[in-house]
Amino acid sequence: MFFNKKFGLKERKVIVTGASGGLGRDLTLRLIRHYGCRVLGVARNEEKLMSIKTELCDLSEKFEYICLDVSQRESWTRLGKYVHSGRFDADVLINNAGMLPRFAKFGMYSPEETKKCLSLDQNSVIWASEEFLPIFDGKEGASIINIASADALCPLAGTSVYSAAKSAVRAFSEALREEYRGKIYIPAVCPGFIRTDIMKGQGRSVSPLVDFFSMPSEKAARILLRRANAGRSRIVFGFDAHFMSAAYKISPVLSLRFFKWIFKISGLDMFRDIF
Ligand SMILES: NC(=O)c1ccc[n+]([C@@H]2O[C@H](COP(=O)([O-])OP(=O)(O)OC[C@H]3O[C@@H](n4cnc5c(N)ncnc54)[C@H](OP(=O)(O)O)[C@@H]3O)[C@@H](O)[C@H]2O)c1
Repeated sequence: MFFNKKFGLKERKVIVTGASGGLGRDLTLRLIRHYGCRVLGVARNEEKLMSIKTELCDLSEKFEYICLDVSQRESWTRLGKYVHSGRFDADVLINNAGMLPRFAKFGMYSPEETKKCLSLDQNSVIWASEEFLPIFDGKEGASIINIASADALCPLAGTSVYSAAKSAVRAFSEALREEYRGKIYIPAVCPGFIRTDIMKGQGRSVSPLVDFFSMPSEKAARILLRRANAGRSRIVFGFDAHFMSAAYKISPVLSLRFFKWIFKISGLDMFRDIF
């Protein structure tokens, strides 16, 4: 009850990174339609960001956007200045923009691929905190919601860099959560598979089987926001995420072997570079 009064999402001014597609788009739509928020969407694709305004119809004035590449440190300086200037007096930041490199053994990634993933999935979250913790310190009800992944609870063969980045985000968020307890709400979010375009960036056909087991993005947004609104410290959702977490707690060694075996017997093309 106390949490909901002080923090909570109702009628907040929220920055959502990666708002142009997937989970970020559904978070944006839901924040505006169901929580009465104003949202500043951040992403690179202007056309997709503009289409959110069209989709919102009567509520379109509650959405604005800024095109930035959040994997660049300067973008966070620009965003910080934008907020400081009073153009969008944010009190919540959702660090959602992310990418999943193709499933492959680490040795198959180029240094550029590794750098790209670490810059976006890990460093951007740290840069965001460098910029926004001073802005949010002392601000009533401020929150920084960091989207990690189930891979942060149980790393998977074939996702070494992504698992490392998302584990860093989880650990970083948990440390900050304690440091800023009662002042800024900073949960780590660890979802399982969500049906978005994230796999399409891999240049591989996504198996309908993976799609089938993935949670619809609208549902993921609904669960995430409900739990964040209730002040959950750690937000884990999706059967696969809970299963991975439990398996890793029982056996950190055998669980990885088990999931690799699942990838192998699935015979799916998208996992072929793991073996
Ligand atoms: N989908 C899953 O199964 C799953 C599972 C666990 C966790 N997650 C996490 O959930 C988050 C959202 O993933 P998603 O599935 O919605 O991915 P998605 O469908 O690929 O969408 C990614 C979003 O991030 C934006 N983005 C990518 N690179 C960016 C950059 N450099 N600067 C600014 N924006 C950038 C994209 O917009 P532009 O291209 O317009 O920039 C897009 O709006 C990610 O952090 C992901 O790791 C996803």
